[in-house]
Amino acid sequence: MNRQTTISSRDLGLEFASICGRYFLGLEHLHYGYWPDGLPVNIHNLRAAQEHYTNFLVSHIPAGIRSILDVGCGSGQTSKHLVELGYSVACVSPSPMLSGRVRQLIGDAGQVFECRFEELQTDGRFDLVLFSESFQYIRLTDAIEKAYEILKPAGYMLICDVFRKDVKEQAGKNGVGGGHRLAKFYREIENLPFERLEDVDITSRTSPNLQLLDEAMQDVARPIVDSGMDFLAGRYPLMSRLLGWLYRRRIEAAYGKYFKGARSSVDFESFKTYRLFLYRSISAVPADSKTTCTDLNQTLVTA
Ligand SMILES: C[S@@+](CC[C@H](N)C(=O)[O-])C[C@H]1O[C@@H](n2cnc3c(N)ncnc32)[C@H](O)[C@@H]1O
Repeated sequence: MNRQTTISSRDLGLEFASICGRYFLGLEHLHYGYWPDGLPVNIHNLRAAQEHYTNFLVSHIPAGIRSILDVGCGSGQTSKHLVELGYSVACVSPSPMLSGRVRQLIGDAGQVFECRFEELQTDGRFDLVLFSESFQYIRLTDAIEKAYEILKPAGYMLICDVFRKDVKEQAGKNGVGGGHRLAKFYREIENLPFERLEDVDITSRTSPNLQLLDEAMQDVARPIVDSGMDFLAGRYPLMSRLLGWLYRRRIEAAYGKYFKGARSSVDFESFKTYRLFLYRSISAVPADSKTTCTDLNQTLVTA
């Protein structure tokens, strides 16, 4: 594949998750599932839980919104849904592979900016900037300053993502990475003219995903890795011992992180908090920038 930008291991992980999720489970979204009362937590219901998440998100879009910028749009399922609901949608996606999927999905109905949000330059201004589980990937200050810059006056910023609680994380306990510090987020957003309209804690609705992830690690990934190691040890004993010795720390760390049940719902709830935030900008910065990132549709959203 001809990649025009360097791809980080996190981007690669997301692409891998997207391919596997789609192939094995028919999953289209890249976000957590939202588990309402009565929906049994099992892998077969993950798709339904992801759809509940999207509906929950959409139900918090204020009335009167026309244009939405979906930042870090993943495979474009949420964008597609928003287009179907009649919104004018543009997407930001730094991943060439995912951007390709988004273009296939929404075609001419929405513009795809293939770049990182921090690098986006556009004359377009939006009624709402959406971060659906993409906020954690962008440097905190860059994300909120940029969102403010490209919002129309009195525009909205809707964030739904995982944050880190201000508790000391114990080594080996917290198997889930990611998320900005919640306290830092509250501090930094105070520096911009945003007014908070909603702060909804959905940690208990999203933490069951960790149980599923842990089950997948224990029941699928670990047996595969163990069989591979056994095969190597039987077929190439010397090389296996040498590799085991050379990489013992990394192997131990990986086992501790992925295969020791550290990704439990209980630990997630102890260290993380999953929030939906809705903010409204109080005034707007004049538009003075030009589009420079790859924009394969060659059109500008100026709604
Ligand atoms: C967990 S996925 C969420 C995808 C989608 N929003 C959803 O709800 O299914 C994270 C997304 O953030 C994107 N992303 C990562 N770093 C980014 C950045 N610096 N700017 C914009 N998007 C970014 C990834 O490419 C991916 O699409």
